[in-house]
Amino acid sequence: MSLITDLHGVPRIEGVALTAIAERFDTPCYVYSRAALTAAFDAYHTALAGRNSRICYAVKANSNLAILNIFARLGAGFDIVSGGELARVIAAGGDPAKVVFSGVGKSPDEMRQALAAGIGCFNVESASELEHLNASAGALRRCAPIALRVNPNVDPKTHPYISTGLKTAKFGVAFDTAVTLYRHARNLPNLAIRGIACHIGSQLLDPQPAADAASKVLELVDQLAAEGIVFEHIDLGGGMGIRYRDEAILPAKDYLAPMLARLAGRQETLFIEPGRSLVGNAGLLLTRVAVLKPGEEKNFAVVDAAMNDLARPALYDAWHDIVKVSAGGTATAGAQRYEIVGPICESGDFFGHDRELTLAEGDLLAILSAGAYGMAMSSNYNTRPRAAEVMVDGDAMHLIRRRETVAELMALETLLPQ
Ligand code: LLP
Repeated sequence: MSLITDLHGVPRIEGVALTAIAERFDTPCYVYSRAALTAAFDAYHTALAGRNSRICYAVKANSNLAILNIFARLGAGFDIVSGGELARVIAAGGDPAKVVFSGVGKSPDEMRQALAAGIGCFNVESASELEHLNASAGALRRCAPIALRVNPNVDPKTHPYISTGLKTAKFGVAFDTAVTLYRHARNLPNLAIRGIACHIGSQLLDPQPAADAASKVLELVDQLAAEGIVFEHIDLGGGMGIRYRDEAILPAKDYLAPMLARLAGRQETLFIEPGRSLVGNAGLLLTRVAVLKPGEEKNFAVVDAAMNDLARPALYDAWHDIVKVSAGGTATAGAQRYEIVGPICESGDFFGHDRELTLAEGDLLAILSAGAYGMAMSSNYNTRPRAAEVMVDGDAMHLIRRRETVAELMALETLLPQ
């Protein structure tokens, strides 16, 4: 089901008209649907029914507290990559014991913070991290629960910037070093081996690479079991793709089916770390057309959102559907091809090229599929306050993050004394 439904010509999310949200909270503004978030979570939950499993939402995709809280209430665990994300999970009511901590460069402070919080598992990404973690845990007289993130070297067939499981990636430990590292970890006094982890990439459409990664990981699991190194859980990461344009998307249960088939009969708890597929199509970015600028070669529609709000087009040349929500003025021309751009001083500040739309200044537009890696990757470039975020829940709209002010953007800075 599409996020926007049309009731008597009024585009809405759940029971709330998008125009009402723009009027109340202004633009640019991220809008999410609680029902869509819940439905995405339930799809995983149903797909995993009948086996020991944990859905660890990848906080980096969208770390708003209200969103984390919705998932926490649904029983989710979390995949984090920083002490900041851990603080968010705790503030949102998440259970630290259900958290896995990934990342190639965890600092000693972050290790201490996570140990003190009683984190579920560190996904260790290097030999050096094993030593640091052992030392941090020893200093706190604690035992650090660990998994090694192994690099299964399968090609996830996605954008190179979001492929993570290839040999050339900075993530995880090389597959052929894993056995040696586990043997070593077993002898470190302040570590407790709990599992094994991998994550091969993001926006994956074909379920095969993830299933192949699972097979490779299972080979390792069996090899280690023969040496008495046994796991409570196997973490197969996130990565399931979503429809941005016309991608063929499998429902969660079909995407997971080949992977689950390889795990049939195994006792370990399966962890997965979905991010984008839980939030991506549960959110959109509302923006208004500020200026229309017809040109000889191209027509520009300058909107009030920019690459600081949603960086994916600028960063990855990513496609986001852009639809008109309501007219703000009377269009003087019919449908035309527009470059939909933001006001920032960069040629890369665009949301779409050659989009055919009938536009007038003041029109309200929605940039779709913006719930994942949208607000989470936003910045203050050009001293632009970050957008507001609104959660729709039935007939209610809740402001879950108010718009920043320019004064707030300057508040951390000081002039030199003279
Ligand atoms: N687990 C780990 C260890 C990860 O590195 C990631 C994403 C995930 C889980 C969640 O993956 P997902 O289910 O969302 O695909 N900014 C990029 C995506 C970067 C993904 C980084 N890692 C984008 O906008 O497409």
